[in-house]
Amino acid sequence: MTRVVELIERKRDGGRLEAGEIDALVQGYVRGEIPDYQLSAFCMAVLWRGMDARETAALTAAMVRSGERLDLSRFGRVVDKHSTGGVGDKTTLVVAPLVAACGAPVAKMSGRGLGFSGGTLDKLASFTGYRVDLSSAEFLAQLGRIGIVLSGQSADLAPADGLLYALRDTTGTVPSIPLIASSIMSKKIAAGASAVVLDVKVGRGAFVKDLGQARELARAMVAIGRAERLAVTCELTDMDQPLGHAVGNALEVREAIETLRGDGPPDLVRLAVLAGAEMLVLARRARDKRTAAARIDRAIQDGSGLAKLRELVSAQGGDAALVDDTAGLPRAAEVETLRATRTAWVGDLAADTIGIASLRLGAGREKKGDRIDLSTGIVLRAKVGTRVERGEPYAEVHCSGRRSDAEAIELVRSAFRWSSSRVPARRLVLGRIASR
Ligand code: URA
Repeated sequence: MTRVVELIERKRDGGRLEAGEIDALVQGYVRGEIPDYQLSAFCMAVLWRGMDARETAALTAAMVRSGERLDLSRFGRVVDKHSTGGVGDKTTLVVAPLVAACGAPVAKMSGRGLGFSGGTLDKLASFTGYRVDLSSAEFLAQLGRIGIVLSGQSADLAPADGLLYALRDTTGTVPSIPLIASSIMSKKIAAGASAVVLDVKVGRGAFVKDLGQARELARAMVAIGRAERLAVTCELTDMDQPLGHAVGNALEVREAIETLRGDGPPDLVRLAVLAGAEMLVLARRARDKRTAAARIDRAIQDGSGLAKLRELVSAQGGDAALVDDTAGLPRAAEVETLRATRTAWVGDLAADTIGIASLRLGAGREKKGDRIDLSTGIVLRAKVGTRVERGEPYAEVHCSGRRSDAEAIELVRSAFRWSSSRVPARRLVLGRIASR
């Protein structure tokens, strides 16, 4: 093979790499033959110079080839769902059971929280005993038995992504469109679904801060899907303010359960119905999005989505009684209520500041390996556009006696900007880019 340094230099100087060269870099790195410093330099060159669609597809294929690839074809058209991550994003906990209740098999591997964005696996830990470390055999057996499985990423799927992600995280090379697109898509392709709905979050609480970059990321992922015969639909959605009211693990689980009971916040309900309808259409269980949305709605109203969540939690060893009795979910020792000092409208609510506040409360990891506190977090009683009367509560901070609680409370206070005139609610859905 061409010497590794020549490939790094070619990318540094803006040249193109062949698929075989990219594959050799990835497999050489996974085998331990190429050192971290050379792959770091390569990632930095990609961050500055970019990759064209063929190179990005080749990088994705190489990462898929680094490990096992599940074959789910015997289950029919299995759909997956993935969010690029945000604050208060508990959509998966709502959508996955709803779609499965409508008869489409859902097989999803989720991640832990990253930085200030929460992860579905951490939230699921609120159900005492819930297992996220299923083997491939257990994963497939459960999918066949109950039509839904929600577990952690198996170490055998796209192992190159795990290694590369850890390297990128410590070398300032996460925010590169081809690297993010190939990282996400390699895991989706290896996990074996026929179609995937991707929620590309945009705004201060997301990886991608502006709509232009979000469109570029969505197009890159749709192009990879096309090369791998995986149907991809990207919804571009707002993450400038948190989603729903609850931020923090058990608080978000409670909100997801309320949503499945028909009592969810409007933005979360809208997103769940939107993503669920896209999934049903891609799974060919509904002929169009209107019919699909009506079926998702029905699965909320008739309780079949909630019943599916109960079945899922029980199948994975969790305490399913918590689905009906949420009072048993982890609860913080103290709740500090923030009240409006004057009557005003919420003009702005910074998702990143709320995310950092939840980290300070112990709801996320400040560094790798930290234990998280499932009980803590924030409940936002008002969102952008809400009018709050003087003396009324606009947020609750759920704390468990850490030294950083006071700082977290101040952060929540500072995340709100107030306006003395009416402010319109934010637009939630900002665009859609799909492979068909
Ligand atoms: N999520 C991923 O899985 N990979 C990235 O690179 C960024 C977000």
